[in-house]
Amino acid sequence: MSRNAKDFFRPLALGAPEPLREIPARPSRAIHFFDPSNEKMAAKVPELAGTVDVLLGNLEDAVRSDRKEAARAGLVKIARDTDFKTSQLWTRVNALDSPWVLDDLTTLVTEIGDKLDVVMIPKVQGAEDIAYVDRLLAQLEARAGLTEPLLVHAILETARGVVDVEEICGASPRMQGLSLGPADLAADRRMKTTRVGGGHPGYVVRADARRTSDGVDVEGERATYQQDLWHYTIARMVDACAAHGIYPYYGPFGDIADVVACEDQFRNAYLLGCVGAWSLHPKQIEIAQRVFSPSVEDIAHARRVVAAMQHDGGDGTGAVMLDGKMEDDASLKQCLVLVELAEQLAERDPELKRLYDGIEA
Ligand code: GLV
Ligand code: MG
Repeated sequence: MSRNAKDFFRPLALGAPEPLREIPARPSRAIHFFDPSNEKMAAKVPELAGTVDVLLGNLEDAVRSDRKEAARAGLVKIARDTDFKTSQLWTRVNALDSPWVLDDLTTLVTEIGDKLDVVMIPKVQGAEDIAYVDRLLAQLEARAGLTEPLLVHAILETARGVVDVEEICGASPRMQGLSLGPADLAADRRMKTTRVGGGHPGYVVRADARRTSDGVDVEGERATYQQDLWHYTIARMVDACAAHGIYPYYGPFGDIADVVACEDQFRNAYLLGCVGAWSLHPKQIEIAQRVFSPSVEDIAHARRVVAAMQHDGGDGTGAVMLDGKMEDDASLKQCLVLVELAEQLAERDPELKRLYDGIEA
């Protein structure tokens, strides 16, 4: 049996802070990864603070094994020395079966736990991994005297993690969200791709051959349409997160030079319900923050629908015709998702506020 409803929000260690009842909707359109052991990247962090929603000190993959300790120590120093302004500070610790994770969690929570917002856990297999982290964080929070609970973000990058995605989302009140980890997931599932996210030109459907009335194939080009390798997983992740009141994210897009395909991948995730994506290079920050913010056109339309449904004392029920299209309670609700997101983002992003405020009624 999992924890009963009464116990679910009890701290898991004496002296640990109370878990949150609701996960705050803070902007996290771009989660910008940096390697704290890389001096060039570390030096950029103060400049990026305040310009990106989330700065994430990465300790896991992409950091060499002989740099793991330097990365951990580097993150402690950066967290202490930097004014993060409006940016949140997250970290990705090493995997739970690695030789580094225990020291990652112990050091980070006790030394800079008050600076960290979210701890990303890679290669999560099931709810038992979250339960382990949940208890350990509570013990460390108590030792550090923290007053705010740390939140946990799991990377969806194992086949078993996908199968158990709902249990993972509901395993702890600390669960803040999930990111798709397409590279590890592809390997774990034994997919035959070799990329870090994005599409593949071989994954297509092809139009039927044209045939004569006697059933003979007519030679000629047959159109092919590339399909999205990640649609199924992202859709499952979005449903699991929405059902548990937490947030889904697209993860990494490894082809840094292909900004067009990166934008497409991010936009597909946005349209399906994700709230953000990872940035592996400063040029992906702008893409993510733009794509995961509702467009001015969408907000203008959404506000028109809201106004039309409330016209003449309407309370948002019933139906109206707008530009030849039927709008009703359900399309109003979709519009409100966009309007509310725009309001949340505009509170933190003055440039967006100016854009949305400038929309003519
Ligand atoms: C991210 O960690 C991935 O494996 O894609
Ligand atoms: Mg990974």
